[in-house]
Amino acid sequence: MWFLGMDIGTGGTRAVLIDEQGSIVSSASAEHAPFRTPQPGWAEQDPEDWWRAAVEAIRGALAAAPEPSQPIVGIGLTGQMHGAVLLDDSGQVLRPSLIWCDTRTQPQCDWLHAEIGYERLIELTCNPALPNFTLTKLLWVKEHEPDIFARTAHILCPKDYVRFRLTGSFAIDVQEASGTLLLDVTHRRWSTQVAAAAGIPEPWLPEVFESTDVCAFISGVAASETGLAAGTPVVAGAGDQGAGAVGMGILAPGSVSATIGTSGVVFAATANPVKDPKGRLHTFCHAVPGRWHVMGVTQSAGLSFRWLRETFFAGQEYDALTAAASAIAPGSDGLLWAPYLLGERTPHLDPEVRASFAGIHSGHGAAHFTRAVLEGVAYSLQDTFTLFAELSIPVSAIRLGGGGARGPLWRRIQAAVYGQPIEILTAEEGGAFGSALMAGVGVGHWATLDDACRASITVAERIAPDPAWIKVYKAGYQRWQKLYPALAALR
Ligand code: XUL
Repeated sequence: MWFLGMDIGTGGTRAVLIDEQGSIVSSASAEHAPFRTPQPGWAEQDPEDWWRAAVEAIRGALAAAPEPSQPIVGIGLTGQMHGAVLLDDSGQVLRPSLIWCDTRTQPQCDWLHAEIGYERLIELTCNPALPNFTLTKLLWVKEHEPDIFARTAHILCPKDYVRFRLTGSFAIDVQEASGTLLLDVTHRRWSTQVAAAAGIPEPWLPEVFESTDVCAFISGVAASETGLAAGTPVVAGAGDQGAGAVGMGILAPGSVSATIGTSGVVFAATANPVKDPKGRLHTFCHAVPGRWHVMGVTQSAGLSFRWLRETFFAGQEYDALTAAASAIAPGSDGLLWAPYLLGERTPHLDPEVRASFAGIHSGHGAAHFTRAVLEGVAYSLQDTFTLFAELSIPVSAIRLGGGGARGPLWRRIQAAVYGQPIEILTAEEGGAFGSALMAGVGVGHWATLDDACRASITVAERIAPDPAWIKVYKAGYQRWQKLYPALAALR
């Protein structure tokens, strides 16, 4: 038997088929139309486009699967988190979705803090209001498009809209629901208080499930569109961060991942909902029943390196740039990079601060700038580890993911900046793979996600930090920490 995992991302949708051992059988992707920015800071996508891409990706993965094919006995979904999809009572989409990176809703965040109270909101939902979170987007529609708000009957997140098209069911998982700001994260159920205070009728909210629960079945209509069998069980799944963590085996308290994609995420599994009273970390339910997670986000991680290359080294390969940077001593001879190209989430929650190089002298050459960018991004992820230490969140093993795990230099820099051994996995298959594992657990093939990960994930390499580098980066991080207050004062 096979399991299907689907990742409805921002740029595109990926479908992955895995077998009973958790090995990849086939995969296929389909791109989305780029998100629209009708005004600066806005980001909108059409849910219909996600559905079109989902059908294409499913059909592609089925066509690419080797013979003899096996029955697909379970399906799991993941995707970009936080987006708001508003539907009327006949299930029609009412307007384009405001997606996760749409930041128009600071006034709605301020309103929520004034109405409910900053500390009280953290008590109720474990998080403060951020423009990324779904509730703030619903409040924007309420204020600016009251006619649409009045016709709303259902609210869904992006992957849950695709589930609705696949099954006809309105459902969400606890991890995704945590990012709506409407969940009582501690008790893993909708927060009646927050919904009432914000004026969101509870019947609009989909039913909440644990990630590995079977919550719906493929409908006859969807079966004929996709080639899947009608009646196939669909598990609740999780948002991309939760499913990505499952795909990397970050399940038990103490296990942590540091993933450098466009943004950088440091993610830790926890036994309890650990709240930061200042709201600097996100505290969400994990995809593992009975566990939670915290995460910190560096807005411009891989993006810093991409920006550097496109702006100053057009036409050069990343590998050539990092090879040149390897010849520079750790610390880049005092050159620092503060990676705030898009402001910063953790720990500053400051969308306005801007990036900077600092400490340039006449001896610095191009390779110093590359190395300083790799180091500055690692320092920024270290800010999340510093918060973990402040909040006594255990860190016993760090797995690297994303582009930051690929080259030898960025791996070594990260090990030394974090001051911990790091692990690299044999293959990193991402959120679609994690959601396929959830499907395998949901239909009883594996008893738990821990079992599923043990069976399917292997560590290829462990890298111990270089003691001499640790010393340099400890001092470097202390200098680097002085940059944010200086940059924040520049506005
Ligand atoms: C998580 C987050 C992103 C989005 C888009 O908080 O904002 O991971 O889910 O990928």
